[in-house]
Amino acid sequence: MDSYDVLVIGGGPAGYVAAIRAAQLGFKTACVDAFERNGKASLGGTCLNVGCIPSKAMLDSSEKFEMITHEAAEHGIQVSGASVDVAKMLARKAGVVDKLTGGVAYLFKKNKITSFFGYGKLLRQDGEEWVVDAAGTEVKARHVIVATGSNPRALPLAPFGGHVVENSGALEFTAVPQQLGVIGAGVIGLELGSVWRRLGAQVTVLEALPGFLMAADDGLAKEALKQFQKQGLDFHFGVNITKVEQDDSGVSVTYTEKDAEVTARFDKLIVSIGRVPNTNGLGADAVGLALDERGFVKVDGHYRTNLPNVYAIGDVIGGAMLAHKAEEEGVALAEMIAGQAGHVNYDVIPWVIYTSPEIAWAGLSEKQAKEKGLTVKTGQFPFSANGRALGHGDPRGFVKVVADAQSDRILGVHMIGSGVSELIGEVVAIMEFGGSAEDLARTVHAHPTLSEVVKEAALATDKRSLHM
Ligand code: FAD
Ligand code: NAI
Repeated sequence: MDSYDVLVIGGGPAGYVAAIRAAQLGFKTACVDAFERNGKASLGGTCLNVGCIPSKAMLDSSEKFEMITHEAAEHGIQVSGASVDVAKMLARKAGVVDKLTGGVAYLFKKNKITSFFGYGKLLRQDGEEWVVDAAGTEVKARHVIVATGSNPRALPLAPFGGHVVENSGALEFTAVPQQLGVIGAGVIGLELGSVWRRLGAQVTVLEALPGFLMAADDGLAKEALKQFQKQGLDFHFGVNITKVEQDDSGVSVTYTEKDAEVTARFDKLIVSIGRVPNTNGLGADAVGLALDERGFVKVDGHYRTNLPNVYAIGDVIGGAMLAHKAEEEGVALAEMIAGQAGHVNYDVIPWVIYTSPEIAWAGLSEKQAKEKGLTVKTGQFPFSANGRALGHGDPRGFVKVVADAQSDRILGVHMIGSGVSELIGEVVAIMEFGGSAEDLARTVHAHPTLSEVVKEAALATDKRSLHM
């Protein structure tokens, strides 16, 4: 029986990064992953196959279409006859996914990581080692990392299938639906709803809560709602879905809204109401791996489960279900196994929503900071006063910096606007070093760039913005 120092179950961002880092640290490493695309193994998990990467590819394609059809004229560019070839768009997206998933396979080879395609199942302990069924082959491992990710949560009234789809299905519509329903105004609903709206669908979003983006700073959600409604996304908040019926041509969804009962008809329905941990095929019950009441694998601060030398990271342990959080846990855990001081700073994990405008935040909102009893000062600066944003033709949104009034330390940053997915990085780096608004304000930012809005927002915490 082959024996490994580290065996990773799951080849998503948590698992494949943990495997690479473990191999870099000199461990004999293997990874078993069950993700299958077009009948073949495809490393990279949800993120690379049916999540982050394909959704961003479709967001980019649809954004280009919207630019050509709606924004080019403002720049003096006349375009007529623009149309969408959905099959080609999907093929391009698949090409991007192939490149990246193939890239992970290449990295495994480069780092001499053994790759098994299929399910990984914990079988039994054998002295200091675990015996694991790695896709039908029994192997031994000194350390086992569970990185089995998450699956979409289904609405009991509307199981996935037919015209009712989750993220994978919503990335594979072969034609633009005329009427698209989305249940859940969360990250997937906003991103994928935006994709199909830009391509021509009428999109209706049904959300149970009275608002959306509850975790973001208040002003961000308000500005986002204004912009999305302007684009034609039709939001219904505080709804209760009572019936979902599908037939050959589509789906009827009945819901109550402000005590009125409404039935809406859609060609397709995306259900994006969150994700649940995935421990399928792992043999968790048989070996007594402890899960919490929601099914997440229970871990301590060092990602140790209740079983000796079995660890868990990524979506399957809960917290922010984000690829970069999963990756950092992979690095930290491999380093801890090597006896080093691996660490993830959960206080500074950026959230980015790739809609138009983009939304990004990290750290505390003004409200959260006040709830913690901190005295805060804030500075906000709009893109409408920035030369580069005006040149681009997209002056929507703003950057808001929340800082501690006494120490000036940056507590949070909240952005909505074009390109903020890239702008947030510099503030995250400064926050990681415990930096202040003054540090950000005194950093030289190239002119003209969108990043000057970040600097001006930092200056605004001290009421000394230069261009407002
Ligand atoms: P996963 O990526 O889910 O990987 C787990 C892997 O384990 C899968 O390959 C699975 O097949 C495999 N597996 C499960 N059980 C077993 C088993 N028993 N044996 C072997 N293999 C097994 N996050 C971002 O940060 N940015 C984004 O832009 C973003 N966009 C997203 C868009 C969509 C549509 C979705 C659905 C998610 C998005 N996410 C995004 C979230 C991100 O995809 C997840 O947070 C991330 O993939 C979690 O990584 P993971 O490794 O924990 O799990
Ligand atoms: P989500 O948690 O972001 O949003 C789910 C929404 O559905 C919430 O607003 C919730 O109130 C609503 N909801 C729940 N039950 C409902 C019901 N019965 N009826 C109506 N509304 C209901 O979950 P989502 O969008 O499914 O995404 C899952 C996760 O994937 C995200 O939380 C995020 O971690 C990750 N993701 C990250 C992305 C990014 O970083 N850009 C992009 C897409 C997904």
